[in-house]
Amino acid sequence: MMSNIQTVLVTGGAGYVGSVLVPKLLKKGYRVKVLDLYLYEPNVFAGYRNSNLEEIHGDIRNDNTLSEALLGVDAVIHLACISNDPSFELNPELGKSINYDAMIKVVSHARQAEVKRFIFASTSSVYGLKQEENITEDLPLEPLTDYSKFKVLGEEILMKEGAPYFTAVAIRSATVCGYSPRMRFDLTVNILTNHAWSKGIITVFGGEQKRPNIHIEDITDLYSDLLSHPSEKIHSKVFNAGARNYTVSEIANIVKSEVESSSGNSVKVNHQEAGDDKRSYHISSEKIFKELGFKPKRDIRGAVSDLIEAFKAGKFEDSLNNTKYFNVKTMQEIKLK
Ligand SMILES: NC(=O)c1ccc[n+]([C@@H]2O[C@H](COP(=O)([O-])OP(=O)(O)OC[C@H]3O[C@@H](n4cnc5c(N)ncnc54)[C@H](O)[C@@H]3O)[C@@H](O)[C@H]2O)c1
Repeated sequence: MMSNIQTVLVTGGAGYVGSVLVPKLLKKGYRVKVLDLYLYEPNVFAGYRNSNLEEIHGDIRNDNTLSEALLGVDAVIHLACISNDPSFELNPELGKSINYDAMIKVVSHARQAEVKRFIFASTSSVYGLKQEENITEDLPLEPLTDYSKFKVLGEEILMKEGAPYFTAVAIRSATVCGYSPRMRFDLTVNILTNHAWSKGIITVFGGEQKRPNIHIEDITDLYSDLLSHPSEKIHSKVFNAGARNYTVSEIANIVKSEVESSSGNSVKVNHQEAGDDKRSYHISSEKIFKELGFKPKRDIRGAVSDLIEAFKAGKFEDSLNNTKYFNVKTMQEIKLK
């Protein structure tokens, strides 16, 4: 059965991933609703006010907000969450209320509203530390942090609710990189590029750890494509999604060479001993290629050069210090309840 999706609700659609995804969906002709607290960039969709976009400033924890937001919706792309370990750890109760309790609500309201398709943004950190060279979807999940643990539980909730008329799919995304109108400078490639461009120095802890990354244009292409894949190809499935797995040192060298060649200034790479976070993993994205034909089209070098273009165009305001670019700093400041 081909899907017949016209209206899509993107929870957390004003976030880093969402603010690249939403314009893409509009361009493809979908009607889009964004439900978001707009914690980081309130005016990110200012240029889309006369389009097929409906913005709902609200909380996914609120039942009334959810049922109103879901009226007339055919598919949900669920991105809203406290989206990294340090922000989650600031206030674990808050994190659980959004990443877990509200996930249950979003799924159950979506079922009630007869939504046809539900796409969940999970993470490749659900695997924890693994000895295996190549991490495939069938390996046991051993999440190391609460953020990852609740992503595992989120997948379980969704898969339990899946039904032939409610297509459920989860994407275990690698760390995303590249330019977004709601920028995050707390993600590996983005951090290194920011430091190289703004300070001329980057610090690498350890360096031999492999970290999977994916270009923001690729992950958003994927979420968008998932709206049109036949249900039987994706229903009740989880897929890893990552591009080539580089070591942190390799990423640093790519950043250094891109920044040096476009700025003419030299960038120093400072090597330090690995800190506590020694995670090294290599995710396999073979399954999604074999089953859905999805292969990332861009490399992290492209993400770095897009960021450099944005720096040159003056798109960032005080990229090293502005709290809005760092989730944990914003969460500390706004004290969300
Ligand atoms: N960025 C990555 O590297 C990455 C990697 C793997 C998975 N993911 C997942 O992708 C999704 C999007 O990530 P992102 O980088 O865009 O994060 P983000 O923090 O930029 O976006 C999350 C959005 O959710 C909103 N939000 C938070 N709590 C809310 C609530 N209670 N009600 C309504 N809105 C709320 C925030 O305002 C924000 O706009 C997340 O689920 C994240 O876990 C991201």
